[in-house]
Amino acid sequence: MRHGRRIGAAGAAMLALAAGDLWAQDATKTVWDGVYTEAQAERGAEAYAQNCANCHGQQLAGTGEAKPLAGPEFLSNWSGLTMADLFDRTRTTMPLDRPATLSRDAYADVLAYVLKFNGFPAGESELARRSEMLAAIRIEAERPAQSATGAGKLAAANEAMPAAPNSQPNPYVADAGFFKMPPGRTMGSSSAVGVDSRGHIWIAERCGANNCAGSALDPILEFDAKGNFIKAFGAGLLLFPHGMFIDAKDHIWLTDGHAEGGKGAQVFEFDNTGKVLRKLGKAGVSAVGTDTFAEPNAVVVARNGTIFVADGHTPGKGPARIVKFDATGRFVKQWGVRGPAAGELEVPHTLALDSGGRLFVGDRWNNRISIFDQDGKFLEAWSQFGRPSGVYIDRNDVLYVADSESREPAGYGHHPGWKRGIRIGSARTGEVTAYIPDTEPNPDKGATSGAEGIWVDGKGVIYGAQVLQKSVVRYTRK
Ligand code: HEC
Repeated sequence: MRHGRRIGAAGAAMLALAAGDLWAQDATKTVWDGVYTEAQAERGAEAYAQNCANCHGQQLAGTGEAKPLAGPEFLSNWSGLTMADLFDRTRTTMPLDRPATLSRDAYADVLAYVLKFNGFPAGESELARRSEMLAAIRIEAERPAQSATGAGKLAAANEAMPAAPNSQPNPYVADAGFFKMPPGRTMGSSSAVGVDSRGHIWIAERCGANNCAGSALDPILEFDAKGNFIKAFGAGLLLFPHGMFIDAKDHIWLTDGHAEGGKGAQVFEFDNTGKVLRKLGKAGVSAVGTDTFAEPNAVVVARNGTIFVADGHTPGKGPARIVKFDATGRFVKQWGVRGPAAGELEVPHTLALDSGGRLFVGDRWNNRISIFDQDGKFLEAWSQFGRPSGVYIDRNDVLYVADSESREPAGYGHHPGWKRGIRIGSARTGEVTAYIPDTEPNPDKGATSGAEGIWVDGKGVIYGAQVLQKSVVRYTRK
């Protein structure tokens, strides 16, 4: 009843008439109850990009004085207050340079996007644009025990959490200093690693930093099986090397996840001399099309040459699709409806094919792997391998999954009970048999740590490419 004050006598009478105890029930609603819709968050993403992103950042992480609008700091500021408090504060003071210039609808949409980005579930009805109604929604950083309305949708789509998801044995030892970089170079952030048929390891790193824009360095490096540097190429071609695949011909495929200044949003096929054999997508054009990509995350090539690209890196915005091309690079079809329900995708971050040709899509935002046939028919979803940033399947159908994001607190990466690391099991039965824990002492502090990209050589040696630690770690059996 804490909001009784704000509802006028007429309103209260109407509520009382309309539905007896509904009011009390409404007053205890929280942001965990599905208080906005997917469509609204999508509109909000656009409005956010136009009106807020220049100060608060693309990833809501804040810049300079503009505070983060996602993550622990933001949530602890607002936890215990209501959506009306956040709405009024935002509407009357933001955008900082021209407060109250958006419509009430647009503010509600932006806040729907902010809720989505913070990991609160979508529901059936839109976030209201009136403060009286928003006052009934409490902001809670932690999910209240009995609340499951909207979040239940994702939980229901994902299988029940195993009793002890981080308990499998770790039969591996890690070596973080295996690769000898060429003189004068240090490794940047990487999510792209692969091993060719000769056992040579290929790494695409982000030019000593987390972005190659403006860099003259060669981001694609070849090492021999002992970790000695052989050669590098690719300078000036890519902005943000993201997903790597090495095909049966030892061609190196790479996606570029960013687009600006006439570069990026492309998929490259190189031979092992560094020659560009093919490009898919249009350089610098980030768009959903049959010959363009928005944010291409990952690529895999089947034995018959069929190409699959996973497109869409941002939750709540842009595509979440799989695009299929034939061996000549001609568009065949695409699929992927954005959302949490079974068969839907939100952030298709990584791809792998099993020996039977099933396509494993690591949907990071939805904390699961969704498995499709090559025509896009949904087969099943597995949540027992954690929150997938990278997936790899070897020729014996052993599945390796890198979880670089699971976090306890509400907000980005919220996945309570799950720890980061590499989970290993069967791509046939779905059983998880081994778990290599991430070594980051305080994973809840940041959005990523440990391996994002993963590849396994013919002898079972695992390579994990890390964004935060700027390193590729080699794991061998004890
Ligand atoms: C010109 C830069 C700028 C723009 C554009 C801008 N903000 Fe801000 N925002 C700030 C700054 C600086 C602060 C911190 C100072 C303050 O609290 O007033 C802030 C604070 C906030 C806060 C309070 C955060 C907290 O935890 O206390 C919210 C919420 C917010 N902004 C939302 C928005 C939204 C939503 C938009 C887009 C509609 C937006 N801002 C656009 C600069 C900006």
